[in-house]
Amino acid sequence: MKNYLIIGGSSGIGKSLATSLANSGSQVYATYNLHPHNTADNIHYAALNVLNDEMDLDFLPDHLDGIAYCPGSIDLKPFSKIKPATFAADYNLQVLGAVKVLQAVLPRLKAAGNASVVLFSTVAVQLGFNFHSLVAASKGAVEGLTRALAAELAPMIRVNAIAPSLTDTPLAGKFLASDEKKEANAQKHPLKRIGTAEEIAAMAAFLLSDTSAWMTGQIIHLDGGMSSIK
Ligand SMILES: NC(=O)c1ccc[n+]([C@@H]2O[C@H](COP(=O)([O-])OP(=O)(O)OC[C@H]3O[C@@H](n4cnc5c(N)ncnc54)[C@H](OP(=O)(O)O)[C@@H]3O)[C@@H](O)[C@H]2O)c1
Repeated sequence: MKNYLIIGGSSGIGKSLATSLANSGSQVYATYNLHPHNTADNIHYAALNVLNDEMDLDFLPDHLDGIAYCPGSIDLKPFSKIKPATFAADYNLQVLGAVKVLQAVLPRLKAAGNASVVLFSTVAVQLGFNFHSLVAASKGAVEGLTRALAAELAPMIRVNAIAPSLTDTPLAGKFLASDEKKEANAQKHPLKRIGTAEEIAAMAAFLLSDTSAWMTGQIIHLDGGMSSIK
């Protein structure tokens, strides 16, 4: 039986991933920040704010077969209006949070023999968009971290990232708040719709599983064709 840790398993992609892993018989250790969830069936929930200096990970088992780091932000603003401190805060959540958690659980990942790490980037790294400098800077760092860690942790631990385009989750709620907004965003994609949390979670589940055992250091562009088709 596999043990998986989902940081940010209380919403959107992480919640869908936690449910799907638990439904396939794995033990899932999932964290929440602002939205408490009760432990049920195979999903053991615990509170964790990755912005805190100290992280209590005593709820975790001795070995972890995989981890997905889901906290993120989409804060779109003109570059000239973003204070350097805001860049630092975004980096703290999207990059340093992952660094701190990964360093803390590394012994548990190593104890599994073969383990898999899944991080999240965005389509806005591969392709430049107006007002995306904040998220692109942080997620660009996530992509670099993915490849560097894939090199450093091979062959025992695989590290891959998913770079979605707009996906229907609470994080993207403000961009999808009306039918008009949804349709306008759908039409920007070659496949003429936005993504679902389940579709992104299914890719994360694949990357965590042994079915992807020969993949590491990859950035998966799961974006309705946005990053590669005009
Ligand atoms: N949705 C999109 O359109 C989209 C597009 C490209 C990339 N992505 C990336 O995909 C990943 C998942 O996004 P999502 O849309 O599923 O986001 P979401 O619905 O906002 O879920 C984020 C999860 O992270 C947790 N979290 C937030 N801040 C945290 C903190 N300080 N400490 C610990 N946990 C924290 C949240 O917990 P609580 O809810 O309990 O606070 C929640 O469980 C993110 O990295 C995002 O950048 C998303």
